[in-house]
Amino acid sequence: MSAAPRLPRPLDEAGGRAGEGAHAVVGHLARGGVDVTHGPILYLEGVTVSFDGFKALDNLSLAVDDGELRCIIGPNGAGKTTMMDCITGKTRPDSGTVFFGSTIDLIRMTEAQIANIGIGRKFQRPTVFETLSVFENMELALKTAKGPYASVRAKLDSEQLDRIEQALVQVNLRDAVWCTAGVLSHGQKQWLEIGMLLVQQPRLILLDEPVAGMTDAEAERTAELCLSLEGSHSLLVVEHDMEFVSRIARTVTVLHEGSVLAEGSMDKVRGDPQVIEVYLGR
Ligand SMILES: Nc1ncnc2c1ncn2[C@@H]1O[C@H](COP(=O)(O)OP(=O)(O)O)[C@@H](O)[C@H]1O
Ligand SMILES: [Mg+2]
Repeated sequence: MSAAPRLPRPLDEAGGRAGEGAHAVVGHLARGGVDVTHGPILYLEGVTVSFDGFKALDNLSLAVDDGELRCIIGPNGAGKTTMMDCITGKTRPDSGTVFFGSTIDLIRMTEAQIANIGIGRKFQRPTVFETLSVFENMELALKTAKGPYASVRAKLDSEQLDRIEQALVQVNLRDAVWCTAGVLSHGQKQWLEIGMLLVQQPRLILLDEPVAGMTDAEAERTAELCLSLEGSHSLLVVEHDMEFVSRIARTVTVLHEGSVLAEGSMDKVRGDPQVIEVYLGR
């Protein structure tokens, strides 16, 4: 094995000991804030979202266990992205319940608060800073997570550098740490964005179509990544690529017209006549 390039110790000279208190708060919230002793880490019940009378979500109920890797499939327009919008506070349901653990009512919280308590989301399109290096993107993700009062110029401490390094190893970008993000392949940019989530230590990760546009090899590597996160994180993965889904599938939930059409093992949902009719058979 070749020696990986060293991560920087001080990134700038401006710092001092700034930000350590803020960091402790984020760490505390991300790790400790959610109570899963009496049930699932994510719980939606009877969630309805209407756009001009059209129900994008229609009485949707769903529960995800702590450490679970859950796949969500379903035709375009089924409500998959809207469901993620409700979990992350981007959209407020007309009715229903969305809980993180047994005590945290997500409907009452802002997007920023939800991100801070340990729910990380990757959108469909990668949104990395193309002109910055992989390392700088990771550094920004870590510092942004500390909130608006954290100094962007503060030095990272060694625990934070370790976290960045560990996340880069997980997403297979350790050797690209000094690359400009703009030169990465599409798949690598997606991984960088997942790395930027991981460094914030979320308990629940939402991935919307993570392998769209990836090569087969990249999709395979992404499947391994998802499997490696299972257990230490809870994951909700929306994806159309059935080869990818069958590679990582545990429990699969099929959404259709804003509610759950079927749920179970890949074999079970694959063999479900209704699922075949509305989705897989086409
Ligand atoms: N902001 C919005 N305004 C109006 N309609 C929307 C909005 N967001 C989503 N929709 C509609 O809600 C339905 C579900 O969309 P979406 O959640 O994006 O589905 P999916 O991600 O499963 O393809 C679609 O019919 C879509 O057109
Ligand atoms: Mg979508």
